[in-house]
Amino acid sequence: MIHLVSGDLLDSPTGLLVLPVDGDGPEAWRAALGPAYETARTDAAAAKRPAMLIRPDGSRVLVVRLGDEPGLERWRWAAAAAARQADSLDLDRAVLALPPGESADVAAALVEGFLLGGYRFDACRSEDPQDPVALGLWAETPSDGLTAAVGRAAVRAEATAWCRDLVNLPPDAKMPAALADLVAEVAEDAGVRCEVWDKDRIEAERLGGVLGVNRGSLDPPRFVTLEWTPEGTEADAPVVLVGKTVTYDTGGLSLKPTKDSMDFMKADMAGGAAVAAAVVGAARLGLPLRVIGLLPMTDNRPGGRAFAPGDVLTMHSGATVEVLNTDAEGRLILADALSLAQRLDPRWVLDAATLTGAQGVALGERVAAVLARHEDRDLADRVHRAGDATGDLSWVLPLYPHYREQLTSDIADLKNVGGRMAGTITAAAFLEAFTRDAAGDPAYPWVHVDLARPSFLNAAYGYRPKGASGFGVRLLLDLLVDEAGGDARLASEPGPWTSS
Ligand code: BES
Ligand code: MN
Ligand code: ZN
Repeated sequence: MIHLVSGDLLDSPTGLLVLPVDGDGPEAWRAALGPAYETARTDAAAAKRPAMLIRPDGSRVLVVRLGDEPGLERWRWAAAAAARQADSLDLDRAVLALPPGESADVAAALVEGFLLGGYRFDACRSEDPQDPVALGLWAETPSDGLTAAVGRAAVRAEATAWCRDLVNLPPDAKMPAALADLVAEVAEDAGVRCEVWDKDRIEAERLGGVLGVNRGSLDPPRFVTLEWTPEGTEADAPVVLVGKTVTYDTGGLSLKPTKDSMDFMKADMAGGAAVAAAVVGAARLGLPLRVIGLLPMTDNRPGGRAFAPGDVLTMHSGATVEVLNTDAEGRLILADALSLAQRLDPRWVLDAATLTGAQGVALGERVAAVLARHEDRDLADRVHRAGDATGDLSWVLPLYPHYREQLTSDIADLKNVGGRMAGTITAAAFLEAFTRDAAGDPAYPWVHVDLARPSFLNAAYGYRPKGASGFGVRLLLDLLVDEAGGDARLASEPGPWTSS
């Protein structure tokens, strides 16, 4: 819970007062703090990092200069830098000051950046974790609008932190049965209905892609459905989010070469974690929009019964797939979820997946790939715009029909790999085949987000730590808010987050 503080800026009892400063900063702050402020401001500018000043009464003020990141990102980045300082000082309380005249959106960005920047994953350490810093926001003129915006920012940040927690968790702690339980507990607590299919049910539903990938595993698969249906929307067509949830990807019999590293293949469920966090976040925000999340869960391992290159799988859609590389497993489990989604009669479907190494080769660690059919270009553009607004950046790649030719099999309807060229695109082309109905027509508008690299980072940047980034959670929430008709359609009092 973020508390709002007002009145004399320097009077508030605070462990650390954070002043985000653009240029010279507000006249009022210069007047209040005198020459020490001027020195801190110049130091912060020269060193490009926050500068601390200690006031005569011993209280601490941190001056944080805004950088030149676009839009609200500069506020998030600045607040994240402050959060890291607060963390290293072991303080128990901090107050972020909203410069007079700045909007509720800026206040929200400051809170989001601070909470995201202060994230730590301590679940696997033997020491007791450090208590998080209690956060306040100072504003010259507090308002209900400000309180609501800041409350929503906290929900978004906590949803992102939950996603990061799940992705950072070691593979042993999140095999499908355990992960399904973890997700169900948080979801139900938020008022999200959760249905978990076990292996028998998955067999009965003929999810041939999920079962094929799971064959080498000692652990059975799960298929999790999360449903947020707020009152009065029971008859609405839902937005459906599908997330690749491969709890660990060794490549299977087409074992990953060690130089390509399995070190972060525990993050191969990051799409599923982002989807789960977005559905739960939508519920926590009280979003008046029907949203359904589909999470096919399995690990991908070699084993005595493992599916092998050359095997042909019969998918949930009835289509047959010749598996020529067991490391192209994500598309097999997503294909089942995408054809299953047709029963839900969706408004539109988005899938998020750590699908291809080629995504990183093309776009790097900070920019996801977005692909859609030409007819659904507007949906792809909406994803791109939500990314620019939230900092979850993306770029649209082409999905011309001819890419599908790379997936022609000698013996089955399709093969699961398309060769060396355009790997991210041929993976999307494979998925696209399963978004069509029996007559071959698109069953719903669909967009694919390949977030392979952005979801797990080799190096921290801005408010994202090394390791799990929570990429996509805020992007998806923005998209859902947009679909629900913008800010006005949010409940003004979001419920508290009680996951941890
Ligand atoms: N999970 C990987 C993709 C991946 C790679 C995610 C690097 C994050 C970082 C996926 O299952 C995979 O192995 N894809 C293959 C596909 C290929 C065999 C056609 C790849 O990209 O190499
Ligand atoms: Mn793989
Ligand atoms: Zn994978």
